[in-house]
Amino acid sequence: MPSLTLRFSFSGFPRSRCCSTPTPKLSSFTSFQTEVNFRSIMDRLTSAARLMIVSDLDHTMVDHHDPENLSLLRFNALWEANYRENSLLVFSTGRSPTLYKELRKDKPMLTPDITIMSVGTEITYGNSMEPDDGWEAFLNNKWDRKIVTEETSKYPELTLQSETEQRPHKVSFYVQKDKAQDIMRTLSKRLEERGLDVKIIYSGGMDLDILPQGAGKGQALAYLLKKLKSEGKLPNNTIACGDSGNDAELFSIPDVYGVMVANAQEELLQWCAENAKDNPKVIHATERCAAGIIQAIGHFNLGPNTSPRDVTDMSDCKMENFVPAYEVVKFYLFFEKWRRGEIENSDLHLSNLKAVCRPSGTFVHPSGAEKSLEDCINTLRSCHGDKQGKQFRIWVDQVLPTQVGSDSWLVSFKKWELCGEERQCCITTVLLSSKNVTVADGLTWTHVHQTWLQGAAASDSGTWFF
Ligand code: GLC
Ligand code: MG
Repeated sequence: MPSLTLRFSFSGFPRSRCCSTPTPKLSSFTSFQTEVNFRSIMDRLTSAARLMIVSDLDHTMVDHHDPENLSLLRFNALWEANYRENSLLVFSTGRSPTLYKELRKDKPMLTPDITIMSVGTEITYGNSMEPDDGWEAFLNNKWDRKIVTEETSKYPELTLQSETEQRPHKVSFYVQKDKAQDIMRTLSKRLEERGLDVKIIYSGGMDLDILPQGAGKGQALAYLLKKLKSEGKLPNNTIACGDSGNDAELFSIPDVYGVMVANAQEELLQWCAENAKDNPKVIHATERCAAGIIQAIGHFNLGPNTSPRDVTDMSDCKMENFVPAYEVVKFYLFFEKWRRGEIENSDLHLSNLKAVCRPSGTFVHPSGAEKSLEDCINTLRSCHGDKQGKQFRIWVDQVLPTQVGSDSWLVSFKKWELCGEERQCCITTVLLSSKNVTVADGLTWTHVHQTWLQGAAASDSGTWFF
């Protein structure tokens, strides 16, 4: 790396000084609304998160070369069964809110607790994605996007990215690899002369982002950690996951584990070779994308690392306690395999299912129709293998159990079904009971209730079983 003294990240290789940029005083800018949204996440966690995963999306969590999305689905099942309840999922992407929402429509992604977008210039909390205005106010320091557009317009080699990717604290272009370094050097100098303090990041061998110096994925993570610490809820472990230049900063945050997925870009590998070579907390996985994240959880011993999707005989899983979320994940994996015709159509499976349903248990279908759980299981016979050879997947999102009695749990979650291009989702609530059963028997399903998620109802509700 050239020995530059300029205050910017050269060629997508942020200098390790990036973490020494002071993070803002937490209370000085943040509005009441931001606090309320952050608090709702804090309230869910009774203590510090067991694990916080901070993951990039494109080519890290999401493998664009896998139309089946298998590693993403494996990660989803692992997260929901073992981590959701007491951990934090953070997505950190270069995408703007618009492109992020497009990706979510396109891929079977979970809902994160916190979303960092536009290369660490926007942080939002919860399902409603309320922005952290304190963070955005902090980024105004020595930043003026008008000056940035003025100066960049002098470079014909810079092609402006789409309007959606131009954000209050991010100006983005495409530029050819061989031109990038020269432009970054001279542009940085010009912007400095005009009183700005910026960070220029080159990613994926084509994207050039100009941000305020205090911004970036690493700085946003440092800010988040500081916020969590001030709540007394610094996660027990944090792991950052990435594949390209704009992720490099994530690997220089102290006390954070890191995984560069197997398919990481040259620019990131080179940065790590120069800046994190002797850091045993950062690995280069041998597995691609989300499979690399699972691999890193195992490598660093951060908790369970076997996805329920990889367990072929569910009866093999010996649990020590009742785990309501695991029961839900396990059931829907069975249901997916049943409909894909990947498990044998045998009475044994159905009688096993009946054994975990209370005979008087009821199911309220999203259409409003009510029937007994036993009847539901009987109708499963008719849909065995009906999705064979089709691109059919089921996943559950935000599986959150609440203990409502000494032996009962109410578990709420979103149950998604994808068939080809079509997707449907029901907000689902299940009442599970441990009365008169052992851990080996599994929890008893006593009541299931579903309503369509707005905008995700099936056009023919007769095709929705459970
Ligand atoms: C995403 C954004 C783009 C940005 C790139 C690299 O692709 O959409 O604007 O330049 O990430 O950070
Ligand atoms: Mg990426």
